[in-house]
Amino acid sequence: MSMPEITEDMIFECFAAARKSDDMGKTASSFVDVEEYENEIMYPEFARWASKAGHPDLAKLFRKVAGEEKLHAVWLRELYSDIGTPERGEDTQRAIDALETIRANCDELIAMNPDSVIEKALMVAIRVEEREYLDIYPRFRDQALANNDEATAQVYQRVIDSEQQHAEWFQGALDSYRETHLQMA
Ligand SMILES: [Fe+2]
Ligand SMILES: [Fe+2]
Repeated sequence: MSMPEITEDMIFECFAAARKSDDMGKTASSFVDVEEYENEIMYPEFARWASKAGHPDLAKLFRKVAGEEKLHAVWLRELYSDIGTPERGEDTQRAIDALETIRANCDELIAMNPDSVIEKALMVAIRVEEREYLDIYPRFRDQALANNDEATAQVYQRVIDSEQQHAEWFQGALDSYRETHLQMA
């Protein structure tokens, strides 16, 4: 019987990248789309895996970060009150589909080998947060600065700082997870 394999790259496919557009309003809308996806779908699913695998502490961390992703969207919505329901980005839809595809296999794999999925989910969460705070959102902030929109730039900077903290929390969780796991092995 072949065992379903969930790779780190497959989990990374569940991450959606917000897209910078020439129109700052469209950039903002893409940002809100992605942040709300992380809040409503991606991190709650990671939290579900963690609690299924018997790690309520990690489930709590994923839910805490999910809550902050919601805040990121709220901060920007305060400046762009006409966003409403943002258009579902192509990349966000692709990420939702990727998450659906691995969901069934994931449950099976967690039952057989919980540690592998949880470790990969943490590694992916770190990659996601790093990509946001080092690459994607600095470009959004710089676009706002180039348009002399200090208020928007400040919000993106707050988000950058927050995503960096998320990466650090996940790195700390991964380190202690590995430590505990190695001690048990
Ligand atoms: Fe965020
Ligand atoms: Fe984040």
